[in-house]
Amino acid sequence: ARVSYGALTATKGEYKHFMLKEIHEQPDAVLDTLRITLPDFPFSDDRIRSFNRAIIIGMGTSLHAGMVGRMWIESLAGLACEVDNSSEFRYRDAVLDENTLVISISQSGETADTLGAMDLAKSRGARQLTLCNYEGTQSTRVADGVLPIRAGLEISVAGTKTFVCSLVTLYALAAYLGVKRGYLSEERLANIVQELLHLPEMIGQLLSDQSQYERLALKYGRRANFLFLGRGKNYPLAMEGALKLKEISYIHAEGYPAGEMKHGPISLIDRKMPVVALVPQDDLYEKMLSNVNEVKARRGSVVAVAAEGDKHISEKADEVIWIPKASANITPILNAIPMQLLAYYIAVERGCDVDQPRNLAKSVTVE
Ligand code: AGP
Repeated sequence: ARVSYGALTATKGEYKHFMLKEIHEQPDAVLDTLRITLPDFPFSDDRIRSFNRAIIIGMGTSLHAGMVGRMWIESLAGLACEVDNSSEFRYRDAVLDENTLVISISQSGETADTLGAMDLAKSRGARQLTLCNYEGTQSTRVADGVLPIRAGLEISVAGTKTFVCSLVTLYALAAYLGVKRGYLSEERLANIVQELLHLPEMIGQLLSDQSQYERLALKYGRRANFLFLGRGKNYPLAMEGALKLKEISYIHAEGYPAGEMKHGPISLIDRKMPVVALVPQDDLYEKMLSNVNEVKARRGSVVAVAAEGDKHISEKADEVIWIPKASANITPILNAIPMQLLAYYIAVERGCDVDQPRNLAKSVTVE
């Protein structure tokens, strides 16, 4: 009831669409998410140390957040972690026990498949945490503990601030588990906290001038297909970029781990194919650069999303969207913003109903 009352009274203010308003709310939303404290964390330190596996479940954008979360949980908490689509998880014969931590992500808390997957996890004795944007929803009643993502009301069907706030929550959760499991040093934790405190400001920087996106929308907005490529923690961002674009602009888009290129998708590349390549300066930088070369060699257009000051990429790509320099852990959170803005401006250019795309609902409460 709370969700629908808020939705009835919400206004777009100075913005043309709720989606743009919600994109702009992200610095404040992240600040709010960062205020999260975990006094009611439902598991004792002993219990946290006894977990031998985590499984993250979700659908759509929430699943993509979970795919990044898995990598943080592995690297910061040293905990084996899988990620699965709730609609698959609920019907497979998952092997779970009390040492399995199931983490569900659902901004609405009402997604039928995620609730079904949570019921299965419960019946098999797993311990459960859930990330949710609204108190009192069904997912929060089923889980042992709730991590509120605190994004504030989100009206647009396309998830934006709930995605970013889910990422921030997962990053904080991974660090928390890492500390409790004795895996993350105080020094690394201090660095993480320090950088997180700058996150709202970095997101604000990414929102300050959007003229480039309007130009890109004019240049590429009438193309029939798009490919999004990323590696490591940015592979899920490629998936998310493609989902945002297809959801609101109705352009066919695929998100791939760039290493898959040679196993099929490369045959799609010709001069009509724009490729959005996420090329942060992390351990996989050289490999992404060679993917960019492969696209260029086949006359594809490359829109790179890269770290400020990267001279190599500006020589190779047709267009570059610059991201503030940040650690490899934070970069996927920053990369969410250009994925959102690119989809938004292309959808506007194509005259689409941005906030209410055809055939879609904000919460998918049936299978
Ligand atoms: C996001 O842009 C989509 N509207 C959709 O994929 C959404 O993330 C998915 O339906 C899951 O929703 P939930 O987070 O409310 O469970």
